[in-house]
Amino acid sequence: MTAVTDPVPTYPMTRGCPFDPPAELARIRDDECPAEPGVARVRIWDGSTPWLVTRYDDVRAALADERLSADADRDGYPAASRSRRVRSRGRRRSFIMMDGPEHARHRRMLIGEFTVRRIERLRPLVEQTVTALLDAMEAGENPTDLVQAFALPLPSLVICHLLGVPYADHAFFEAQSRIMVDLTSGAEASAAASDALQDYLAGLVRERLDEPRDDVLGGMAARVAAGDLTVDEASASALLLLVAGHETTANMIALGTLTLLHHPDQLAVVRDGDAAQVRAAVEELLRVLTVTHVGRRRVATEGLEIGEVTIRAGEGVVLAAEAANRDPRQWPHPDEVDVTRGTNRHVAFGFGVHQCLGQPLARLELQIAYPALLRRFPGLRVTVPDSEIPFRDDMAVYGVHALPVAF
Ligand code: HEM
Repeated sequence: MTAVTDPVPTYPMTRGCPFDPPAELARIRDDECPAEPGVARVRIWDGSTPWLVTRYDDVRAALADERLSADADRDGYPAASRSRRVRSRGRRRSFIMMDGPEHARHRRMLIGEFTVRRIERLRPLVEQTVTALLDAMEAGENPTDLVQAFALPLPSLVICHLLGVPYADHAFFEAQSRIMVDLTSGAEASAAASDALQDYLAGLVRERLDEPRDDVLGGMAARVAAGDLTVDEASASALLLLVAGHETTANMIALGTLTLLHHPDQLAVVRDGDAAQVRAAVEELLRVLTVTHVGRRRVATEGLEIGEVTIRAGEGVVLAAEAANRDPRQWPHPDEVDVTRGTNRHVAFGFGVHQCLGQPLARLELQIAYPALLRRFPGLRVTVPDSEIPFRDDMAVYGVHALPVAF
């Protein structure tokens, strides 16, 4: 008997090089011959076959299209894993999975906390935190794990400060968060982690009902007291901010540093460059690394065209930002890291109504972290070959689980 091969590729695909998206994505994006250029059916973990969209213009247009819903409870929504499907139900739903006025209502309540101007006020705190972490690293063991020594605690400390979450609890919330973004977690374990975190955050909101405080959770408590929000809604938003606020940035710091170590000429620009050069370098690293690497997930609420494909109501759509950010129609030599490109039109933070709320904070942290680390330790080097680095293919946010470095 001959084995029947599935003509529909499985998504996510396997990476060849740990620094590049899977080659199969580029093949779909750049093949001009098929009837549906840049768009293809893919098979995901549950056997369903949503559409995969890979070209920059199509991904951007689709992210801005209100006929594509982010509501994971709708039939046809192509969840990233079994645990993510279960977790999206009921009280655990945060506004990243809402549409229209409901999404806008929740996002509006937080938008004032994340404006560029508001986040700029955190600059001294971020700088002091970076200095303290680098001091501790210098005084500590050498070699060390850059993730534990620097990349993870920085965004964790900063998001704790902003929300009003005690950093003393970081081992607890980082562990729960890791289970939540692990694509291989069992559904029950993932739901339990999400519940534990949400209960914990609901407790902190309730504390502020009795004792108001000037932090993001305090602002949420004030809205609960005013009857504008329930404690469950507040804690679901808080959970989103806490998880999104540290997992993503931590991985950008570690994977970005590793990438720069592989490109000494580019590293020198970041280490010695002025603020504008560092800003441009951060945008380039966001583009090439696109750590949210398993596509933005949506489902069509009515028929629409993407590229030359007609998507029917109820069909799932995966918007592969990781492929769009390497689209040669948008960037010359898109697979090359060039920190002097000076473009921030990437979709690493998404686009449209769900565009990353925390991007000013992520940018501030990255713009301070990379040059400070590289200036403090001019001899920074990775102590193992790439083949021994545990890359996060198993997680919804790509990066490295650990990065052994000497300095
Ligand atoms: C380098 C770091 C980061 C990256 C690459 C990143 C990426 C993203 C992406 C791609 C989306 C869009 C999701 C979608 O369209 O389905 C998103 C949304 C979001 N991000 Fe980030 N993010 C980062 C840092 C942060 C930080 C630091 C915070 C919070 C402090 C944050 C909070 C959020 C929130 C709340 C949303 C949902 C927005 C909405 O649905 O309206 N992110 N992020």
